[in-house]
Amino acid sequence: MDKYIINGGKRLRGGVQISGAKNAAVAIIPATVLAGGPCVLENVPNINDVTIDLQILREMGADVRVLDKSTVRIDAKHIRDAVVPYEMARRMRASYYFLGTLLTKFNHAKVSMPGGCDLGDRPIDQHLKCFKSLSANYSIERGIVEISADKLIGSQIYFDKVTVGATINAMLASVKADGLTILENAAKEPHIVDLANFLNSLGADIMGAGTDVIKIRGVKAFSGANYTIIPDQIEAGTYMAAAAATKGDVTVNGIIPKHLEPITSKLRKIGAKVEEFDESIRVIGADRYERTNLKTMPHPGFPTDMQPQFAALLTLAKGTSILTEGVFDNRFRYVDELRRMGADVSVDGKVAVIEGVERLTGAPVKVADLRAGAALIIAGLSADGVTEIEGIHHIERGYEDMDLKLRELGADITKRRYTDGIRAAGE
Ligand code: EPZ
Repeated sequence: MDKYIINGGKRLRGGVQISGAKNAAVAIIPATVLAGGPCVLENVPNINDVTIDLQILREMGADVRVLDKSTVRIDAKHIRDAVVPYEMARRMRASYYFLGTLLTKFNHAKVSMPGGCDLGDRPIDQHLKCFKSLSANYSIERGIVEISADKLIGSQIYFDKVTVGATINAMLASVKADGLTILENAAKEPHIVDLANFLNSLGADIMGAGTDVIKIRGVKAFSGANYTIIPDQIEAGTYMAAAAATKGDVTVNGIIPKHLEPITSKLRKIGAKVEEFDESIRVIGADRYERTNLKTMPHPGFPTDMQPQFAALLTLAKGTSILTEGVFDNRFRYVDELRRMGADVSVDGKVAVIEGVERLTGAPVKVADLRAGAALIIAGLSADGVTEIEGIHHIERGYEDMDLKLRELGADITKRRYTDGIRAAGE
């Protein structure tokens, strides 16, 4: 497994260009299946989850052309009603968005149960509830979800739990359903709004995305579209936390400051200096941070996808911080690895108690999931000595060129490639 080697203690300085939002891209790419003509997507992040999504489209017969590093042209006119195979679906969570799009396109969909980060129990009951409400039937056999409908009929759907994935699948499955669909207790993340804007650019009739009530009136035909994906608020937040942790001075460019409000406010609360501009935010770190309490919540609360990164930052704060994970059952799998670096963290269920220490020391650590990996990078950047991070394929699922971007900010980080456990030649 490839590794990052970080020699910590360097203050990050300079500017970093933020890429397109992973969680918007992995919803919009499957949605191109619904287009009536070619789509050109800009600001697409160059990450492994997107690569898998594009591969799934190609396997189904779509014409997919990568025009440049962040622009893709997709013409799904000739796709066939195919099964999204296990070996691809299990590598990411968002493969289940093909359920909603293929159901709308073919009145039928067969997709293997999704994979993605192991964050505890991740059922799909709310997705299945939506499909059933829209008059579809489903079965789950041998790890494959199959859904079919004679005709999709608009319905009123109340989510028992705020869920990004089910809100997205409900939009995808109802945009051509007969009549009006009303989603209540819907998720409000920026990528929900981005998907709704993309679908409306195809000709859909979606109102209220970004609030907890979304109304979708089914339409008959869609066109193609050119669309630019929003910047990634979590990538930006990760670099902001890294700037603070290394007492550096970093400007994240190409962002929408409003999407980062919960992170900006928390950084200011613990003592970092944060300056906001039209499309960028500058973070100037402090020598030591105040403790704080933090609970992750659905948007506009503090995002769960920033919880591990902030925990890494708070391991060096003065005093005791309390982190409560309000979204997932088990999102503290990175804590054992932070302890190897000298962090003083105890976890009880969904609560982590962090006793700030003076310094962390580099150590060999292992990545459990995407954002856990980001947390270990932040800890390695701020630690004394060398940190070897194994399992970086998790990180490369969701962060474009992270080692390159960090080196450009002055970090001493290198990637060491391994094939079958042996260091690749020339490494
Ligand atoms: C999306 O996951 C994101 N992934 C996650 O980002 C993000 O952490 C999460 O939303 C919350 O913002 C993608 O967009 C690809 P949920 P998703 O459905 O859709 C429960 C990252 O790091 N639930 O909002 O799976 C679920 O178990 C990743 O980029 C049900 O009970 O999240 C969880 O406790 C990690 N039944 C809560 O709801 C369901 O049918 C929120 O899950 C669906 C979800």
